[in-house]
Amino acid sequence: MKQVSKLSQPLPAPSLPAQGYDENALIRLLQTRTGIVVRDHQRELLQTVVTEACEKFDYPSADDYVAVLNDASASGPEFQYLIERITVGESYFFRDPEQIQFLKTQWLPSLIERRRNGGRRLRIWSAGCSRGQELYTMAMLLREALPDLAEWNVHLYGTDINPQVLQDANRGAYTEWSFRATPDRLRERFFTPRGRQWAIDTALRRITNFAPLNLIQDNYPSVLYDIHSFDLILCRNVFIYFDQDAIQQVLQKFNRSLAPDGVLMLGAAEVVEAPSTELELRRAGPVFYFQRRGVPSTGDGVLVRKTPVPRPRQATPAPAHERRAQPDAAAARSRPPAATAPTTATIDALMHNQQWCEAMQAIDAHISQHGSSAELLAQKANVKANHGHLDEALALCDQCIELDALEKRAYFFRGMILAERGEFAAAEGALRKAIYVDPKFLEAHYQLAALALRKGQMSHALKNLRNALELAEAADPDAIACGAPGMTFGRLVQILRQEITMYRPDDRGAVA
Ligand SMILES: C[S@@+](CC[C@H](N)C(=O)[O-])C[C@H]1O[C@@H](n2cnc3c(N)ncnc32)[C@H](O)[C@@H]1O
Repeated sequence: MKQVSKLSQPLPAPSLPAQGYDENALIRLLQTRTGIVVRDHQRELLQTVVTEACEKFDYPSADDYVAVLNDASASGPEFQYLIERITVGESYFFRDPEQIQFLKTQWLPSLIERRRNGGRRLRIWSAGCSRGQELYTMAMLLREALPDLAEWNVHLYGTDINPQVLQDANRGAYTEWSFRATPDRLRERFFTPRGRQWAIDTALRRITNFAPLNLIQDNYPSVLYDIHSFDLILCRNVFIYFDQDAIQQVLQKFNRSLAPDGVLMLGAAEVVEAPSTELELRRAGPVFYFQRRGVPSTGDGVLVRKTPVPRPRQATPAPAHERRAQPDAAAARSRPPAATAPTTATIDALMHNQQWCEAMQAIDAHISQHGSSAELLAQKANVKANHGHLDEALALCDQCIELDALEKRAYFFRGMILAERGEFAAAEGALRKAIYVDPKFLEAHYQLAALALRKGQMSHALKNLRNALELAEAADPDAIACGAPGMTFGRLVQILRQEITMYRPDDRGAVA
């Protein structure tokens, strides 16, 4: 066949800078959906990105592209392109040697010692994980520190707003550039050359989980998504893109997502305060980290500055769809300490608002005046599980089932807790019972999928994800999904579709 010379093809028309759209409105939109702030010096870059996006997605004008962004979710391709170009998803293994040294020589040994005789359970979350280098670094440190790793119940989670980088993380293949701080010995131990890339050890890939999560818009802590009671949250080089409001909002959610003695670590250069949380900034040599007030320091950490006592919560107006779903929420927030027991509507509102401590007090007050019910026991189990008190949560589930054998949430929470402990067969049994009671119990289908993924049963996982997707697609896209604030069925459909794409056997198996 005759080769067509590249030179004989018409040259592409030079891109003209995007014009005729409201730049400030676009900047506000990006900030609301993702927390990302476009600084003044990035405005020119923004123009270029909008111009290139119009070409890439074939929009006749910048106005058309921006109009689509307005209606699109932050995880749609148009938004992703913008996020990717404005932020630098750059990451590499063993980034920031001083932090790594602290984790390796102080935090990890101290945690392992505490947990060796108490549950052998470790939970680590890399929030804004990009292509997974940070989480895999933790996996390597764990593998080195724990020769008996297989006997531990280890949960390593990586989340990012960008599904594209998560696909790469799942694939686990990296170019030379990602290894610029990796000791040779560890590269040889944990990676195999594949063409021009290096593939991570399959065993390490199996103990990690990657999933999409928008730190600003999504709901966490969440038993449903297994984002709760972490021993360590790493959120490095993400806050550099956010403004103070967004940072404080995320810090509050991190605070609630930590185990009682958990640690939060930001990037080495990111020293922020967390006045509206229970978190205190501590320092171990050159390394800063956050830990709950009153908890003994990890390693040599000393208190940097006492953060002020948390201010009472501001009654911030909830988005319209949330307001519909939580009529009693504002009342619950502003109500003085109740002389009479709080109503179940107040408890629902506190739960919905994720005010766990207040919800627990309200449940106890209600039970002491009106007696127990299966529903209240299930709610109490949920709060306990979110705080990492798994034994108490499990006992509450059992009490609940004794009171009402058809309380599906008791089976559901039971399944989640057993899965957390690595008792997979019992967990599966409990989740199946929840589905037996209610075949349309979407969360239970989703958790069965998560369980199958942990066991490496991809086809089971996909089947359960598709069941969950079918149920989510049948629901009103604007309605609140699974009682989780900020999570609509429309958003859940997107998440489930992304996960199904991510776990397709040909994607996951590419490197193994
Ligand atoms: C510079 S990378 C940091 C990667 C890694 N944590 C590290 O320090 O090497 C920043 C990551 O934050 C992610 N990100 C930005 N905004 C986010 C949001 N609202 N929710 C979740 N992830 C976000 C980006 O997609 C990007 O992958």
